[in-house]
Amino acid sequence: MQVKKVGILGCGLMGSGIVEVCAKAGYEVVVREVNDQFLKKGLERLEGSLGTAVEKGKLRKEDRDAARARVRGTTNVADLADSDVVIEAIIEDRVQKREIWAEIGKVVRREALLATNTSSIPLSSLAPATGNPTRFLGLHFMNPVPVMKLVEIVLGIQTTDETLAEGKAFIESLGKTTITAKDTPGFVINVILVPYLCEAVRLVEAGVASPEDVDKGMELGCGVPMGPIKLLDFVGLDTTLAIAEVLSSEFKDPRYAPPPLLRRMVESGFMGKKSGRGFYDYSKKGK
Ligand code: 3HC
Repeated sequence: MQVKKVGILGCGLMGSGIVEVCAKAGYEVVVREVNDQFLKKGLERLEGSLGTAVEKGKLRKEDRDAARARVRGTTNVADLADSDVVIEAIIEDRVQKREIWAEIGKVVRREALLATNTSSIPLSSLAPATGNPTRFLGLHFMNPVPVMKLVEIVLGIQTTDETLAEGKAFIESLGKTTITAKDTPGFVINVILVPYLCEAVRLVEAGVASPEDVDKGMELGCGVPMGPIKLLDFVGLDTTLAIAEVLSSEFKDPRYAPPPLLRRMVESGFMGKKSGRGFYDYSKKGK
């Protein structure tokens, strides 16, 4: 399969990053958001990140302009119909993911590669909605997508070897490395990462240590680039809560249960960096 056009569903934190790496790799990209306001915000995020890449010396100005020119935004799912690869990166909600896959599944070409960027939802619960489960697989990008080198490939029960090989070749064409996981809750990365993030919240919740000390402990003591509370703010408290809910309901094991403080913060609208406040304050005042 020769990939020319990539269709991306969702232009949020992950979607806009996926748009960026695909456009930089030379693919024509059509990205769909639910309304003009979300689309505008997503494309602004893309432009901000491309600008940062230029500032950091990772991208030439002319390559930024060429990448931006390859991206078209839409609010119409049918505009993705002639894509060679479709990547869904909408919110971590099983029902909404099934709905969008049913919609795109009806219009997209049979030979297209169909990928979800889900971070924890079992592929088998989404695959039937696509109408083409043998061509369906998980391509789980890491945040920040333009910087992190890994994409976790997840195989559904019906994903064929050919689909895996094409998915791997596509990801490598973006300059990224892959690992492969079976369709189990949280796959490899999040079954390790999310309990770690939740454990950090439990320490703060129990008053054992401040968020700053938990982060300092892991950064200086264990050499992680970002402490768990900072990382939680960065990934999004809502996203982490959604993943913890999936792990908890799938494994029925209390160690995966999201801590009450995490839920209270999400209910209060503290989603992390993207909402201006999480455990840390990202407003002008807080900065
Ligand atoms: N485009 C291209 N490159 C960029 C860039 C951009 N927009 N922004 C930064 N970079 C490059 C920089 O040039 C630098 O490259 P260098 O090492 O070659 O000099 C590198 O990225 C690091 O950038 P900075 O030095 O500006 O920033 P920091 O050193 O503060 O690092 C970070 C920022 C990369 C986010 C680092 O803190 C980090 O790795 N944090 C952990 C992130 C992580 O764990 N992500 C995974 C989350 S889990 C996930 O996503 C799964 C999901 O399902 C929950």
